[in-house]
Amino acid sequence: MRVGGVQGKLDRVLTGAAVLLVLGGVLAVGQVSRTPPQENKAFEPGEPVEQPLPYSHKLHVGLGLKCRDCHTIPDPGDFATYPAEAKCTACHAAIKTDSPHIQKLLAAEKAGEPIAWNRVYQLPEYVYFSHAVHVIDAKVECSACHGDVASRDVLFQEKPISMYSCMGCHTKYDAPNDCELCHDTH
Ligand code: HEC
Ligand code: HEC
Ligand code: HEC
Ligand code: HEC
Ligand code: HEC
Repeated sequence: MRVGGVQGKLDRVLTGAAVLLVLGGVLAVGQVSRTPPQENKAFEPGEPVEQPLPYSHKLHVGLGLKCRDCHTIPDPGDFATYPAEAKCTACHAAIKTDSPHIQKLLAAEKAGEPIAWNRVYQLPEYVYFSHAVHVIDAKVECSACHGDVASRDVLFQEKPISMYSCMGCHTKYDAPNDCELCHDTH
């Protein structure tokens, strides 16, 4: 859907109506405040996020593994997902098995208990987001939203995922910015 001309005007009218719907909706559920977020809050990169295992993207991407080998985007495509332990133990059943970290990994797989990775990027529940639309349909690179993951030993939030950062990129790509695109008002 492209926005321009008459369609643009129509969208602006619809956007006005949607603002009321969103505000009504969020107030009804009581999840969020009355006003949309402020535009001019400067973004500060986050602290390194501690993980249950010292997994390094730099090391593993350096081995030739591709992002979507591990982060599959299954239907309906909202999530990029974390890899199953079997993906890791395909190598680590034999590699570095003397490491206590790898022993923990092997034990987790054997027990069928997924490693509880801590989140680096997390939207509030009331925001709709789809990896498939961005990565597969619109061909946006992972790094546009997650930074230079391939050169990091430890991840931290290095790109903003605020409402205005989403909308700023949508404007750049001539993508829609109606409230209900990202907020379910029904
Ligand atoms: C347009 C921005 C954008 C792009 C492009 C993008 N992501 Fe994300 N990613 C996000 C946001 C926003 C979240 C938080 C989602 C949430 O909390 O529901 C996220 C979350 C994740 C997560 C956590 C699990 C999940 O699915 O919520 C992983 C893993 C991830 N992204 C990997 C990737 C990889 C790999 C790529 C490229 C193939 C990629 N992302 C491309 C914005 C993006
Ligand atoms: C393609 C094979 C391969 C895959 C798949 C793989 N790794 Fe590795 N991993 C390696 C190699 C090679 C090293 C470096 C070993 C060394 O230092 O001698 C390593 C090192 C590690 C280390 C550091 C261990 C230590 O104590 O030094 C951790 C932790 C680790 N991997 C976790 C994982 C996790 C978690 C996954 C799955 C998400 C995974 N690996 C998938 C090959 C792999
Ligand atoms: C060998 C498997 C593997 C590969 C390949 C891999 N990742 Fe990951 N990724 C992981 C694991 C395990 C985690 C959880 C630990 C962490 O955050 O470092 C993770 C976490 C992430 C997160 C943080 C998700 C969140 O918000 O909690 C992002 C973003 C991400 N990866 C992007 C990428 C990108 C981009 C690439 C390619 C450049 C990539 N990954 C390649 C295994 C992998
Ligand atoms: C790097 C640029 C970029 C960023 C950042 C970005 N988007 Fe998008 N987004 C796009 C593009 C391009 C499209 C596809 C528009 C089209 O279909 O014409 C899109 C489409 C969408 C759609 C439409 C999905 C559908 O079902 O059609 C939603 C919802 C969305 N984005 C939400 C978000 C949210 C929420 C964020 C912030 C967390 C975000 N986007 C950040 C570029 C971006
Ligand atoms: C492209 C996606 C996108 C669009 C379009 C969008 N939002 Fe948001 N909105 C977000 C994200 C992401 C957040 C959560 C992050 C944040 O607080 O910045 C959010 C948060 C909010 C909040 C909660 C603020 C708080 O501090 O609790 C309100 C209210 C809101 N949006 C209203 C609106 C209204 C009204 C519109 C239409 C003018 C709109 N949004 C359009 C993505 C979007």
